Amino acid sequence: MNAFTLKGQPSLVTGANSGIGYAVAKALAAAGAPVVVNYVADPPSAERVVDEIRTAGGEAMAIRADVSREDEVQAMFRKMFDAYGTIHILVNNAGLQRDARFVDMTLHDWEFVLSVNLTGQFLCAREAAREFLRRGVIPEVSCAAGKILCMSSVHEVIPWAGHVNYAASKGGVMLLMKSLAQELAPHRIRVNSLCPGAIRTPINTAAWSTPEALSGLLTLIPYGRIGEPEDIGRAAVWLASDASDYVNGTSLFIDGGMTLFPGFSTNG
Ligand code: BGC
Repeated sequence: MNAFTLKGQPSLVTGANSGIGYAVAKALAAAGAPVVVNYVADPPSAERVVDEIRTAGGEAMAIRADVSREDEVQAMFRKMFDAYGTIHILVNNAGLQRDARFVDMTLHDWEFVLSVNLTGQFLCAREAAREFLRRGVIPEVSCAAGKILCMSSVHEVIPWAGHVNYAASKGGVMLLMKSLAQELAPHRIRVNSLCPGAIRTPINTAAWSTPEALSGLLTLIPYGRIGEPEDIGRAAVWLASDASDYVNGTSLFIDGGMTLFPGFSTNG
């Protein structure tokens, strides 16, 4: 069997109607997975992703759910199981920023980011893990009972002034992922994180949309280019496939070297 194929592995990508989630959904579908395109707002954008996947010969459906709401997450998984029978791959991607100077940050800014970026990953991972445990390994489909990919960030290790809610959420994702990986490994469930650096998406438009901003950003990226959503899509396919079967509990940085302390290349 081709170790990179995702054929027969229903997958759920949260926040798949734009940015990194969109690219990941398309990449998983191209690798053969039926994909649920989760979204919380803007249904036409999710339908466009579904159409693109179908036009390319893949299988997809859109399901709305706010990942921070337990009832909505559970209803989404029920709909997915009705349509596709089970889940093999969860990509916990939905995330957002609400940036503010620390002293100006409201409790709402703090709670909103934590509830989507961290609690949302907990709620979706729990539903997926319950199904993986119930179903177990199907050797013709995958050597694992299930795979969870957590979308983290370089900011699970790089502190970020003006974004303490976001950085705290990603630091939390790191130990959520590792603790889950440790707990679920005996059941043949793999849990890993993708840690993107600066990727050209709507979340960070201000960082790349003017020449000045882009050249400032590039000083932080030794590889000399901004990342594209497809860079993350390709890594997601590998991490979700049997090609990475012995990889568990790992943070995979996809950042052009942003975490290599670039300031030290001419200093220190
Ligand atoms: C953030 C982006 C930022 C990047 C690198 C990501 O996690 O969402 O806004 O550009 O990290 O700092």
